[in-house]
Amino acid sequence: MAGERPLLSARSSSERSRDLAEEDALLTGQRTHRTSGPRTLRFWRELGLFAWAVVATAAVIILAVVYQKSQDTHHASPGHSSGKRNLVFMVSDGMGPTSLSLTRSFMQFKNGAPYNEQLILDKHLIGQSRTRSSSSLITDSAAGATAFSCGMKSYNGAISVLPNHEPCGTVLEAAKKAGYMTGLVVTTRITDATPACFASHVNMRQEEDRIAEQLVGDHPLGRVVDLILGGGRCHFLPNSTSDSCRADDKDIVDLAKQNGFNYVSDRKGFDALKAGKAVNFPLLGLFADGDIPYEIDRRNEGDIYPALHEMAETALKALSHATRDSKKGFFLLIEGSRIDHAGHHNDPAAQVHEVLSYDKAFASVLEFLRNEATDGVMVSTSDHETGGLATARQLHASYPEYLWYPGPLANASHSAERLDLLYKEFLLAEPSPSKSKTTAFVKDLVITGLGIHDASDEEISNLVDVPDTALYQFADMVSRRSQTGWSTHGHSAADVNIYSSDPRVASALVGNHENTEVGKFLSDYLNVDVDAITKELREKGKELKVQSADGEEVSWMGRLPEEGERLDGQDHVTGYAGDFRKRYAGNLMKRGVVHGRGDDCGCGMH
Ligand SMILES: *[C@@H]1O[C@H](CO)[C@@H](O)[C@H](O)[C@H]1NC(C)=O
Ligand SMILES: *[C@@H]1O[C@H](CO)[C@@H](O)[C@H](O)[C@H]1NC(C)=O
Ligand SMILES: [Zn+2]
Repeated sequence: MAGERPLLSARSSSERSRDLAEEDALLTGQRTHRTSGPRTLRFWRELGLFAWAVVATAAVIILAVVYQKSQDTHHASPGHSSGKRNLVFMVSDGMGPTSLSLTRSFMQFKNGAPYNEQLILDKHLIGQSRTRSSSSLITDSAAGATAFSCGMKSYNGAISVLPNHEPCGTVLEAAKKAGYMTGLVVTTRITDATPACFASHVNMRQEEDRIAEQLVGDHPLGRVVDLILGGGRCHFLPNSTSDSCRADDKDIVDLAKQNGFNYVSDRKGFDALKAGKAVNFPLLGLFADGDIPYEIDRRNEGDIYPALHEMAETALKALSHATRDSKKGFFLLIEGSRIDHAGHHNDPAAQVHEVLSYDKAFASVLEFLRNEATDGVMVSTSDHETGGLATARQLHASYPEYLWYPGPLANASHSAERLDLLYKEFLLAEPSPSKSKTTAFVKDLVITGLGIHDASDEEISNLVDVPDTALYQFADMVSRRSQTGWSTHGHSAADVNIYSSDPRVASALVGNHENTEVGKFLSDYLNVDVDAITKELREKGKELKVQSADGEEVSWMGRLPEEGERLDGQDHVTGYAGDFRKRYAGNLMKRGVVHGRGDDCGCGMH
């Protein structure tokens, strides 16, 4: 039990020797002001000997404690490793510290709560993670998740492969090999970068078709995941079906079934799992063609899509039950995937609901761990910040007032993404609508979807005239009114928070850490050997070849990126090439709006 471990926190050796010196001074009385008269030599010799003995004993005890502590944090000691344990790793994709400020104030505003009311997350903060990748000071989710899964830095776009394009063994694969059960729960496509990094290996994150195949067992190690809940069904369906987004006609649901998976694909199927009491393993549950809708939209569509906390609770219950008689517990990844997307869209209303939904799932995990007999810990962090979010925005040239308004976030009943979709559907249904009809439709969307009653004529005419940037325009209308600031539609290099159910068990992550140390903690806690998996993947992968959609035979990790295709085509850390105006100016001219979505929007490169 971690609670029984000595509670000497990890301190530098200089701090420790300073402590010893202080201890020494106290025991020998050097610091006290001497008021007594001269003493005999014998008295001093005896006192000296006695003090020396006390100091030596204390030093031995302290060194022993420090040594054992360092053993505990750096290598799970054999005494602990034999114990059964569960590990829940939560990822809040794209959630930076400011997302918490934004969401906390929104929550207080909505609930009429006092200023000291906190989110559940706030009460479990233990540290921060530094996020850069091997190829850039700003990571993407692929390199970010590779740092967690393999404990190593790689390039933006890498799905658990290293810069030399060799695969790296993941904590999930190593856990499976060691006898743990494993699960992935997400709100995005299960083939998206974060979940993919735990159970598949491809050279480029765009190869989601290949990732789907690996997730269900077309993998050098065979099937490594026992439970999958999330979105991304379209990558599992053959291109001959209407809901498919595969480039080929492979039926991955069928492949999953051949490999033993039980498949559920809708709310009815989810309900039949009886909150985890009726799960047959392995389980593949895909509840949306692509991403599960944002919580701000999904909350009114609970009859179609399960919530993150419902999926999390189902997974925890099922995995706990299935490992009841096992010597090993389980490893479960739970991702609040779309906090990141709301950041990309610069949509603060969508984001606060995503963070609150993550907070709820976080609470579910805490409750599970409290009631579970098996030892367990949860660690939660983000791969990076998205949007360069600021709870401030200067709208005018004059010196700004210090404020931002949560009200406009509360007014919005839908995401900008959903309104954009409705607008596109309107335009598709009516290829050349009259301007007045489009204007009326857009005005209605803004009032009913965003709760905005003071839209300017310019805002409305921009929406009518430039419909292909409507997504960003809707989001910007909410951002400006709330005075929420964004510096990018991409990611930023901000450090992100680390949370845990137990800072003593996760003491190795207290303070400021490199993201790879989070990965190291995961495999240390489970006492599993990712290096052995790396070796096995490299050996077994040699014989494994697969066909690409155009019939070409390629490596099992898909094709290699072409020159310039990958984001690390140059050294982004020192490689400034003097073209800072190009894209910005291009966009402005093309679109006539600030948040134009240009040709190089990087859509899909989350
Ligand atoms: C579907 O996939 C097959 C190969 O598996 C390919 O030959 C065909 O062109 C694809 N069809 C479409 C419409 O993409
Ligand atoms: C928010 O909604 C309220 C109530 O419908 C309305 O009075 C207010 O004007 C709205 N805010 C904005 C920015 O339109
Ligand atoms: Zn992203």
